[in-house]
Amino acid sequence: MVIAIDGPAGSGKSTVARMIAEKLGFYFLNTGSFYRAYTLSALDRGIDPLDREKVLENARSITLSVKDGNVCIDGRSEEGRLHSPLVDKYASPVSSDPRIRDMVNSSVRKIAEGLDIVTEGRDTTTVVFPDADYRFYFDASPEIRARRRLAEQPGLDYETVLQGIIERDRMDREKAVGALKIADGAIVIDTSLLTLNQVCEKVLNALRCTSA
Ligand code: DC
Repeated sequence: MVIAIDGPAGSGKSTVARMIAEKLGFYFLNTGSFYRAYTLSALDRGIDPLDREKVLENARSITLSVKDGNVCIDGRSEEGRLHSPLVDKYASPVSSDPRIRDMVNSSVRKIAEGLDIVTEGRDTTTVVFPDADYRFYFDASPEIRARRRLAEQPGLDYETVLQGIIERDRMDREKAVGALKIADGAIVIDTSLLTLNQVCEKVLNALRCTSA
């Protein structure tokens, strides 16, 4: 079974997807980590992350895998380094190359083969698994998402974080391929005023209601 959740950064989809996977005993797959891993690897090797050809060449030269829910580059888990401000900034332009998207999509589909999974990202309900058994779209206002980010990293400046979120939303929504959008028939959950447990409950209720 595939449960797919899409939505913008900070909408709570990663945490909730992980919680749901744990509750159901499903495999958790975060597709954004793959784009982050290609971005991190390029940065580590001194490649300009905006140089599409070099980024692609590098991506083809490394192997991404998943171990215990963590993405590994050439067998080594880099989970702890995937969320640096630089990776945050460049993962979106890296993910806008359709050739990189094809590589990520085939890896993700291959890993998911024969498994019960909860996956999340920007296009898991539209492109990667359009026939997923359950499809959700999480949303929340940019201001709320900026506050959530500040709660995780208190030293940051609110306005800078907010502008970063607005800019990343724009890039994610305007991508030529794999753009962030609500899939036809997806269940939309506005998480702005909900706790993670409440969002989780809504997802589980939707699964119960439609599983007959
Ligand atoms: O979900 P995240 O913030 O870890 O994703 C990192 C980047 O990858 C983000 O800029 C959006 C992009 N992404 C994507 O284009 N498609 C996906 N399915 C998942 C993430």
